[in-house]
Formats: sequence, structure tokens, C-alpha cells
Amino acid sequence: MTGIKIAIDGPASSGKSTVAKIVARDLDYIYLDTGAMYRSATYLALKNGVSLTDEKAIIKLLREYPISFGRRKDSQQMVFVGDVDITDPIRGNEVTNNVSTVAALPLVRQALVELQQQIANQGGIVMDGRDIGTVVLPDADLKIFMLASVEERARRRYKENLQKGIETDFDTLKEEIAARDYKDSHRKTSPLKPAEDAITFDTTDVDIAGVVTFIEERAQKIIDSL
Ligand code: DC
Repeated sequence: MTGIKIAIDGPASSGKSTVAKIVARDLDYIYLDTGAMYRSATYLALKNGVSLTDEKAIIKLLREYPISFGRRKDSQQMVFVGDVDITDPIRGNEVTNNVSTVAALPLVRQALVELQQQIANQGGIVMDGRDIGTVVLPDADLKIFMLASVEERARRRYKENLQKGIETDFDTLKEEIAARDYKDSHRKTSPLKPAEDAITFDTTDVDIAGVVTFIEERAQKIIDSL
């Protein structure tokens, strides 16, 4: 037994990656942040002056500069394209406000989904994204769809930015999150939606520890039953 597959989906800033990282660490599983992969593709397009809708050119860039992950000394995940460390730039405003356009491109999704499925074959995994339960790992053992109100998600992102020393306008944040939600859930290819067999969990009034416990209890039951 090499471990189970856990899919965590949900809208922007719902806390998926924070929770997924903790669950993966506690279970000693691989953690895969699929949003970071769409952000990497967006970074490559912006950096190389390629149109954000030119999927063939973006695929070519992804072949030339393959995405890989590493770990900092403080165990924070690092993201590379080729040998360039893009951990910080992919969290910047330019990438964040353009990533939904690139994530809507079918060929880009196909290439990244293949990569995600290959990584999942290596063993126990916690993967977070928008289409993990529906498209990437339809056979996942546990599927969680994390929700939270736009107001609460903007509040969380605002606090996170403050901690990083980034000044942001709360209302602008709220608008940007709502715009990304709209684009992610209305695109033709693999829109954001819960899988039929996903457990939907509204985290608006639940803290991180509460969400982690909720997921780990369910994961443990599945692991014990195998
Ligand atoms: O989770 P995130 O904010 O880092 O994701 C960045 C963008 O990538 C988001 O706007 C939607 C897209 N995405 C996607 O379409 N499919 C995934 N599996 C993960 C992210």
C-alpha cells in the first residue's frame, strides 16, 4: 500500500493550499500545488512576450523550461521553470491577474494534467486545484471541495498580504477574487465545480486547524479500511 489520493478543490483563496500542505506533511505524502503550475505557464508567457492565448507557444515554452519543485531550508516549497527559481514572482499581481486566461487554454491544461497524473502515480498524494476531483484524479479516494464567502477569502488574503508587508486595498482584493471565481467556473474546459462524490465543506467560520482535522479524520478512516 503506497498511500491514498486526496483531491482538494475550491475557489481562489479558500485556504486549500495551506490545508493541503499540512495534511500532506502529517501523512508523509507528496503535496502538489497545481495552481503553481498554471501560474508558472503564465509567468513564462509574460516573461517571453508571448500572447496569453497562444497555447502552442506556451506549450513550447513549457517544454523548453520544464516545471519542477524543490524545498527551501525552512521546508517551504520552491517552484522552478528550467533552472530559474520563480517561487516569489508567480505570487505577484501580474501573474495572479492573468492566470485565469492561461488556465482556460485546453492544450495547456492537457499538458499540465498529464504531468499531475504522472506525479500522482508516485504514491500517497494530496493535490489541490480546481479540477482535481473531476478531471485529474477522478478516482481519488477522498475529494474535498472547500468553500468560503468572497468576503472571508478577501479578508484572509488581506491578512496574508499584510504579514508579507504588501499593502492592498480590501475592496480591490474582493473584486479580483470574484473575477477569478467567475472566470474559473465559467470556462469551457474543466471549470471549477465539485465532483459528484466530493464532500463540500464551507470553511467561512472554520479555522485552519478545524479544516485539517475534518480532512484528516476522513482520510484516516479510508486508510484504516484498506
Ligand atoms: O490556486 P491558485 O490561485 O494558485 O490557482 C491559480 C489559477 O490557476 C486559478 O485562477 C485557477 C487555475 N487553476 C486551474 O484552472 N486548475 C487547477 N487545477 C489549479 C489552478
